[in-house]
Amino acid sequence: MTDPQLAGLPETEECIRTVREWLAQRPEQPLAYLHSFGCQLNVADGEKLTGLLEAMGYGMTEDPEKASLILYNTCAVRENAEDRVFGTIGSIKHLKTDNPALILCVTGCMTAQETVAEKIRRSYPYVDIVLGSSAVQRLPQMLYAKMHGQRHAYDTETYTDIPEGVPTRRESRFKAAVPIMYGCNNFCTYCIVPYVRGRERSRTQAAILSEVRELVGAGYKEIMLLGQNVNSFTPADGTDFPGLLREIEKIPGDFWIRFMSSHPKDATPALMDAILECSHVAKHLHLPVQSGSNDVLQRMNRRYTVEKYLSQVDYIRSKCPDFSLTTDLIVGFPDESEADFEATLELVRRVRFDNMYSFIYSKRTGTKAALMDDPVTDAEKSARMQRLLALQREIAVENNKRFVGRTLRVLVDGESKKRPGSVTGRSSENMLVEFTGDAALIGSFVDVEITESHSGALSGVLTN
Ligand code: SAM
Ligand code: SF4
Ligand code: F3S
Repeated sequence: MTDPQLAGLPETEECIRTVREWLAQRPEQPLAYLHSFGCQLNVADGEKLTGLLEAMGYGMTEDPEKASLILYNTCAVRENAEDRVFGTIGSIKHLKTDNPALILCVTGCMTAQETVAEKIRRSYPYVDIVLGSSAVQRLPQMLYAKMHGQRHAYDTETYTDIPEGVPTRRESRFKAAVPIMYGCNNFCTYCIVPYVRGRERSRTQAAILSEVRELVGAGYKEIMLLGQNVNSFTPADGTDFPGLLREIEKIPGDFWIRFMSSHPKDATPALMDAILECSHVAKHLHLPVQSGSNDVLQRMNRRYTVEKYLSQVDYIRSKCPDFSLTTDLIVGFPDESEADFEATLELVRRVRFDNMYSFIYSKRTGTKAALMDDPVTDAEKSARMQRLLALQREIAVENNKRFVGRTLRVLVDGESKKRPGSVTGRSSENMLVEFTGDAALIGSFVDVEITESHSGALSGVLTN
């Protein structure tokens, strides 16, 4: 849905210039507040939105009360994510009443659903701009339209082109997210993402390599390649995802590459070999399994079996026995039986993940699973979740012991919240490591000898 008045607006550059001139007439620099919900792809979009806002002359504020533009970058993956966004939009209505010149903008994955855009139009008419998740680069056009007196600017089209060179304000000075592909073609039956992010499209390898080179040159130490399914990366000018990793490997510098997410249906031996053989690639793989029951996997349309998943685990562990694996799991998919759930526990016991993100199934209108019968009660689903979490805690405590006595290379990323005078970071295996150290170390690689292990973290002493 796009408002007809938005057709024929000037190009982005001209809109940026015009909005900038308009804002420059104000006595003080106007401030913008942005909150991104959801996954790292959304956070990466948020960095582009911030870059565009700054290019138009906005300063950024952490306080919505001080802002003359408030922007929510939303997530639709589970119902509670959407509820939080509607709650937040409702809670700031008074700011608009107090200051009618305030501009409210809602963007991100929620807005790509017609029902949501309609609900905003009907129930939250004080929202000025609604912008689809593939249209973040059109924020200047929306503000241009507002500036020319348009009450509402709604553009929830799915755009398939990938704009390069959008100004980006990165949140960290040493960790950078680099989206390599957008959208998803997999249509897992529970998942809203293909409906809100559109079909898969890859950036060119040349554009990605040039961005990575620039980031490494600017001193970035960790680059996270992002996509809903990075293994489906099919650039117009390159080979495939393992090929991209091997090209990045040729870039000189001291940096790590991480990536998410990998779909097990096409996590090939070539991918595992690239991870193990490329020195820049962190030694960790996030491989979301979702369920340990073949019946459930089939109804989820995941297109792999437990046996295939385990053969991938065995392949990488045959070359590196304690290779670090993490996963996503859904508990309580429609009609998940006790036996299905037991099969999930069995898979977890067999693989011994270092960490897991587990979610209770959330019904998403418009997906196939939303039409499936679901006799399992919420209480039963919660009880299963508790059993899964308890098992994972037990495994993590045991797993983490393997690092005691070893020296791990750690990228220091912040001060410890629990222990003043200590800092935290992540090892190549993505383990959280805490040690006594100065905040000046943040953003650099250090070696830490691990002296203790806990359920969610390791602690140790600095050796260099
Ligand atoms: N593309 C990634 C993949 O296939 O692994 C996942 C991206 S999705 C944004 C992140 C995780 O959210 C999924 O792995 C899944 O576990 C979870 N998820 C997605 N839809 C869900 C739903 N309807 N209910 C509960 N969890 C869901
Ligand atoms: Fe959703 Fe499946 Fe696509 Fe991941 S691969 S984003 S879970 S549809
Ligand atoms: Fe949410 Fe969209 Fe990411 S639905 S998880 S923000 S791709």
